[in-house]
Amino acid sequence: MSNCLVTGGGGFIGSHLVRNLLSAGHNVRVLDNFSTGKRENLIQVMDHIELIEGDLRNMETVREAVKGIELIFHQAALPSVPRSIADPLSSQAVNEVGTLNILLAARDMGAKRVVFASSSSVYGNTPTLPKTEEMPYTPLSPYAVSKVAGELYSKNFYQLYGLETVSLRYFNVFGSRQDPASQYAAVIPIFITKLLTGQRPTIFGDGEQSRDFTYIRNVVEANVLAAASPNVAGEILNIATNQRITLNQLYEQLCRLINVDTEPVYVPPREGDVRHSLASISKAKELMDYRPSVTLEVGLERTIKSFQ
Ligand code: UD1
Repeated sequence: MSNCLVTGGGGFIGSHLVRNLLSAGHNVRVLDNFSTGKRENLIQVMDHIELIEGDLRNMETVREAVKGIELIFHQAALPSVPRSIADPLSSQAVNEVGTLNILLAARDMGAKRVVFASSSSVYGNTPTLPKTEEMPYTPLSPYAVSKVAGELYSKNFYQLYGLETVSLRYFNVFGSRQDPASQYAAVIPIFITKLLTGQRPTIFGDGEQSRDFTYIRNVVEANVLAAASPNVAGEILNIATNQRITLNQLYEQLCRLINVDTEPVYVPPREGDVRHSLASISKAKELMDYRPSVTLEVGLERTIKSFQ
């Protein structure tokens, strides 16, 4: 049993991780300012967690949150590529300075390990697929730049101060409780809610861009492994399904699973969009025995059910 901090515990990924850690018997503290996360996501577990409502950008708040903690799961961030293009400064402040604050507090207050939620966006448009961890960074958006910085700081803190850090590069995570309503929502919750309510979803570009969508359960399992594995300190690991699907194929699959034949609306491509994304997950397999337990198809079925 460990004392765990989940930053962004009120968010989509964080709230799943909180439940998993509680059911494994850990003590869980959450730091969230509920700017993109939601209290409702934590309602069923509120009596079992310690909640600190506060901002990552405030060092005093961060120190209070890290006090007495052994494992930090740093999930808090301002997500979304388009949001970061509209407001780069906020993405930088939360994702980059916020991460640095967490690392500093972890170093100074004796935390054992920090698992940092990074993103596949750091690769940008690398010419070769699948994407492997040693490929160069080519971030196409301020969001991606902020995640590159988080990874570099994490690695740096391991090299300079011996703080154990692990960066997990998530590839397009989806599942229940992912917010469909925000202007900056991810594609799967948007498509599902629109198809369930008789609206026509929008596809940016020709729909031939592709993603390695990763079901939430796989990401939660990866975090648990990253916190406990002996061989991952200072490492960067892809966390994905290793299955690639185009947006058009995703759209068709969702229509089939929901049993509708709605036509999408095609609009011009989105700025900063990566064209193709597919991960090699060999390194995570090798270093911490990560094996995605839920396939894309099963993940989509479960997600649709949760939205119905
Ligand atoms: C990117 C990162 C992902 C990160 C996420 C955080 C890549 C490959 N992925 O996701 O790791 O966690 O940012 O926000 O960089 N789309 C539509 N219609 C819509 C909405 C989206 O066609 O209504 C398209 C987008 O143009 C894009 C794809 O769907 O091509 C996925 O978009 P989205 O869900 O926003 O995620 P990414 O930007 O790929």
